[in-house]
Parts: sequence; structure tokens; C-alpha cells
Amino acid sequence: MADHLDRTSGWSVGGTLRGVTETAREGIGWTRVTLTVGGATGPTDAAAEFGAAVLWGAGAAGVEERDSAEDDGLVLLGGFADPADAARAVARAAELGLVASMEPITDDGLDAWREWAVAERAGRFWITPPWVEAPAIGAGEQILWIDPGRTFGSGSHPTTRLVLALLDDLVSPGATVLDVGCGSGVLAIGAALCGAATAVATDIDPASPGVVAANADRNQVAHLVRTTTDPVAVLAARGERYDLVLANLLAPVIAELGADLVRSTAPGGALVISGLLADRWEAALPAVAPLAARRVASEDGWVAVLLR
Ligand SMILES: C[S@@+](CC[C@H](N)C(=O)[O-])C[C@H]1O[C@@H](n2cnc3c(N)ncnc32)[C@H](O)[C@@H]1O
Repeated sequence: MADHLDRTSGWSVGGTLRGVTETAREGIGWTRVTLTVGGATGPTDAAAEFGAAVLWGAGAAGVEERDSAEDDGLVLLGGFADPADAARAVARAAELGLVASMEPITDDGLDAWREWAVAERAGRFWITPPWVEAPAIGAGEQILWIDPGRTFGSGSHPTTRLVLALLDDLVSPGATVLDVGCGSGVLAIGAALCGAATAVATDIDPASPGVVAANADRNQVAHLVRTTTDPVAVLAARGERYDLVLANLLAPVIAELGADLVRSTAPGGALVISGLLADRWEAALPAVAPLAARRVASEDGWVAVLLR
């Protein structure tokens, strides 16, 4: 999942798609799905989110948002490691009345961001790529080494940083933590560094567990972090309950998973949802009822909400 995203360009910037597998890295090829959203009257943010959710839902490894060259609409580009998933995205889009097409791509340009990656500050953490020189840290600060590979979670996006900045207050020593949509594992590993006894990291991206494990190792918390691709519904059905549940996901995914996120939160525990747009984060609240918003943190048009 791409995370060099900002409010204006959506889930990636610089024309870079990130989050695809080693197959694409080796240039063997991947598949791009182009989805057109909106049109003459211009797209709404909700339509763009909806289109992105269709692509993520079919297994996109990265989604990029561009202005349409032809009208006021938006074009969403989804990168798929598996052409069958791309075909599924096109079929699903057609069912929903959206215009979509797919094409094979060989030149991915997926690693260009690595050249300009920098350490990012979030709460006590400096999220630092391993190939970048460690920043000088002040008292109480800590380096969080993260190589996201092609998963989401480099720390370059506000939705990640907002959640990380909350962890110091939320992770009591020995707490159990669940990170849903963990990507690189940046939040789960941050929680482990804050004193969690265990942090379970789950994502639908099959590339995620390997990336999380390597990052946990880099930060010497591999013994505290468990990776899985089991859906949160499966974890909840097993009766797994956590003191703190972290969910940096898109709004439509939070709407879909809300009940399971709540079920996964232990009585008296806390849930943090992020990845919400500042002008309509409240629309996400019904999905996570009866938990109630206790704190809202925002940066650059994005919001993270702490619920109890
Ligand atoms: C915005 S990224 C967050 C990554 C990381 N936790 C961070 O804060 O930077 C969202 C992640 O959710 C994953 N995802 C999307 N739908 C999901 C689902 N239904 N269940 C679990 N993970 C999901 C994506 O693959 C992606 O890695």
C-alpha cells in the first residue's frame, strides 16, 4: 500500500506506487488497473475513497490518485502483483458502474522514493529507514527503524504518525496490542517499544508478515511481535481481546471491519482508528459504536480518533 500520500494527491505522491511484491521488484511484471472516478461535475472525496476501496479490496498492492487529463474527474491507478486480482478489481468496478481497465506494466519505478527518504518524527519516535543516517535524538526520543519494502508504513504519512504519537499515552506496561492493517508493522513495533507485552500485527497483504518480522528484528522486539494474515474477524471469533487495538485503514474498510475491531477491544480497552479525512471523520463513528470518541488528533487534513 502506498504511503507517500498527502491530502491532495491521495494515497501516493510523485507518481509512485508502492506495496507490490518481489515479483514486481524483479521487473517480471505486474498489472495496473485504471479506474475513473467522477467526471464533468468533478469527483467527491467519498467517490475517490470508494474507488480506492474497490482496488484495495481486490488485493491492490498500491493505489495512486491522479487528476484526470480529460475532465474534472480523478483517475485511480491500482498496482496488482497478481493479474487475477486485477481482473477481479475490473469486474467489481464494472458491477458498481465504474469505468475500469487493466494493462501489464514492466517498469514499476517503485523504489524511487528510497532515494529521498528521510527520518520522520512521530511522538517520541524518529521513524528511520535503515539506509538513512540515524538522526541525532534528544532526551526521551527513540529511533524506530523501518524498511517498509513495498508495504505501507514508512512513517511518511500523517495517518501513521498520528497513531504513533498516541502510543506513549496508551500503552501501559504489559499491555496486549492488535495492529489491524499493519503494513510494515510500524505501529505494532512502536507499541512493543512502548512496553507492550505482545503486539499482534495482521494485514491482508501477503508481503506484510515478512516485512514486519524483519522490522521487529531490526528494533530488537521480534520476541514481542506476532505476524499473521488472519482477518480481524477470525481473531475476534477466536475470542482474542486486546487492551489496545490500532486500525490505520481507509474509512470504507473501517466501516466494514468496525464491529470486529470493537469485538477485539478488551473491556476497558482502547481502539484507535486512523486514515480518516478531517472533514468527515465522524461518519466513521457508527461503525465502532458503542465505543465513543475520547480524543481526536489531526495533521494535514487527516484524523486519528481514540475511542473507549
Ligand atoms: C494505511 S495502511 C496502514 C499501514 C500501517 N499500519 C501504518 O500505520 O502505516 C493500511 C493497511 O491496511 C491493509 N488492509 C486493507 N484492508 C484490510 C483488511 N480488510 N484487513 C486487514 N488489513 C487491511 C492494507 O494492506 C494496508 O497495509
